[in-house]
Amino acid sequence: MLEIKSLTKRFGDKTAVDAATFTVTEPQMIGIIGRSGAGKSTLLRMLNRLNDASDGQMLYEGTEVTRLTGTARRAWQARCAMIFQQFNLVPRMDVVSNVLHGTLNRRSTFATMFNLYPQGDIHKAIEILDRLGIAEQASKRAEDLSGGQQQRVAIARALMQDPAIILADEPIASLDPMNAQIVMDALRRIHEEDGRMVIANLHTLDTARRYCDRVIGMRDGRIVFDGTPAQLTTGVARDIYGAGADFSEAATSTAIETLGKQGDLAPA
Ligand SMILES: Nc1ncnc2c1ncn2[C@@H]1O[C@H](COP(=O)(O)OP(=O)(O)OP(=O)(O)O)[C@@H](O)[C@H]1O
Ligand SMILES: [Mg+2]
Repeated sequence: MLEIKSLTKRFGDKTAVDAATFTVTEPQMIGIIGRSGAGKSTLLRMLNRLNDASDGQMLYEGTEVTRLTGTARRAWQARCAMIFQQFNLVPRMDVVSNVLHGTLNRRSTFATMFNLYPQGDIHKAIEILDRLGIAEQASKRAEDLSGGQQQRVAIARALMQDPAIILADEPIASLDPMNAQIVMDALRRIHEEDGRMVIANLHTLDTARRYCDRVIGMRDGRIVFDGTPAQLTTGVARDIYGAGADFSEAATSTAIETLGKQGDLAPA
């Protein structure tokens, strides 16, 4: 269903993503791992068409996504909703309105200006919030919620678009372990129950192992591993992260980057 062929992104003379190639034949939950600067975000942004590829192709169910323009490009962006580390909610706006923002690209400017939402959409938003266990927060301002709750609002907003694919760029990097687990459980459940593809950049290896059917490892812009969590041995992981012998599975990509610069990697 999704075919990525030699997808490349260059910024000046820096190649952020170098001929990334992979195929997804069923809606899997995929984790992308790699140290800081490996090109994970750039790859996701190309998938969503937030960044244009310098080279290569991306096909979804036979359509060349890399070539879409105008309305077709926006329709694609709605089909593959994006979730970010910093939630990207409107902080002072209430939760339901934030979720309803997920329908913005199919509403008129007039309706948007006057905050007019169809009753059906409001019901749907509440239903989705309920499914994510945060319906009782619906009328609060987004900024008054915990990080884990805010990220679930962001997921609800994404679900409002009824996306085929959910792209998540380090969705739990700002959360404490308990909230991280709640958010990952929610993504996993959405994947299993709705059959949506999830592609998540994850900054820890153990999260990728635990939640994903497939893990893609990136190093210096290239895909250097593509397999199941079982195939991802500690040796392979060490190679993806370019880390030393004292590599810890729980270390984050950011920690590896910092420590790597100092020449050796301390245990997390
Ligand atoms: N807009 C940009 N302009 C120039 N260089 C960029 C830009 N965006 C990314 N890069 C560079 O491309 C490379 C890959 O960046 P990217 O953000 O995709 O990495 P990442 O794997 O997501 O890292 P992190 O784990 O820190 O989020 C880095 O060297 C980065 O500096
Ligand atoms: Mg990133």
